[in-house]
Amino acid sequence: MAKMAAYAVESGEDAFRKIFKFYKRRNPPPDFSDVIDFSRSAPSDQVIPALLDPGAVSDEEAARVGLRPVRDWRAFGLPGYPGFMFITNPFLLGSKPFWVRQCLKTYPQKPNVCNLDMHMSPSDTQDIWDKSVGGLSHNQRQPKTLLDRLRWVTLGYHYNWDTKTYSASHYTPFPADLHSLSFHITSACGFPGFNPQAGILNYYRSDSSLGIHVDESELDHSRPLLSFSFGKSAIFLLGGTRRQDPPTAMYMHSGDVMVMSGQSRLLYHAVPRIVAAPQGHPALEASGSSRHGSVVEPLSEQDWAVCSRYSHSSRVNVTVRQVLAPGQSFPETPSSH
Ligand code: OGA
Ligand code: MN
Repeated sequence: MAKMAAYAVESGEDAFRKIFKFYKRRNPPPDFSDVIDFSRSAPSDQVIPALLDPGAVSDEEAARVGLRPVRDWRAFGLPGYPGFMFITNPFLLGSKPFWVRQCLKTYPQKPNVCNLDMHMSPSDTQDIWDKSVGGLSHNQRQPKTLLDRLRWVTLGYHYNWDTKTYSASHYTPFPADLHSLSFHITSACGFPGFNPQAGILNYYRSDSSLGIHVDESELDHSRPLLSFSFGKSAIFLLGGTRRQDPPTAMYMHSGDVMVMSGQSRLLYHAVPRIVAAPQGHPALEASGSSRHGSVVEPLSEQDWAVCSRYSHSSRVNVTVRQVLAPGQSFPETPSSH
């Protein structure tokens, strides 16, 4: 703890980079006692309650996408981070497996784009799930499956990692179920009319991390950025507007949702480390039954087995972004491809 305080007062140092390295370190493992755990915390001087609008989403609408009634959600903010909101697992028991299956089986499918498309032909990256599940076994000597090698998927306006831009010309329909889920959560958080237009899914193995960055490629920064976490837990670092501002460390557990808006929309952040899901907070619970008219369907036994196994060794993060303001269009540039 004294170490962390020392980072904060060092001037002219890249405090974020140092804290990133601190949490990424394997040997010896870092002290995690400064990491905020919203699932355990009561409001304090470190963590403040955040206001939700329970009238914005009916219990039926929430249940359709696998969410508990908004009045039962626990939402927090952090002093000094206006616009940042953290909702601890608002999902109904048994509905997370459906969303994990969408992330592993449905969203990687064409016409969406994934990292494997960068060096494989469309026919080779078709049916990632079927090709992976067929050869699935407990044999350690099995070669890595396509699912093991999946690192990212983009939805909607597909993100170009080289130019750091979205383009009008590379768009495929945003998944209706994830649109609905995102629309309801942001409505409850006080952002009616959020229009999910782009999504980035990140697939983390136990030793993966995500470097320090700001999400500023969207053309409309007045809209929130929504983030979902499934599977193993992560240490998330939320910094300031300058790269050297020291970050606050927090856990993201399976089912947790983060909303970055307002002054917190353009802050530096990173994921230095994936950690085991804590006791009493399973990476994935059993799939539940489904109500009539629900978006959330129960999983087949095989789908459940694959999703459950994956969730115990990996983490999936989904970020949902509105790229354009209503009526806004992409600037016409030759580099928009
Ligand atoms: C991102 C991101 C964080 C996470 O995809 O831009 O910051 O929790 N993800 O994985
Ligand atoms: Mn980000």
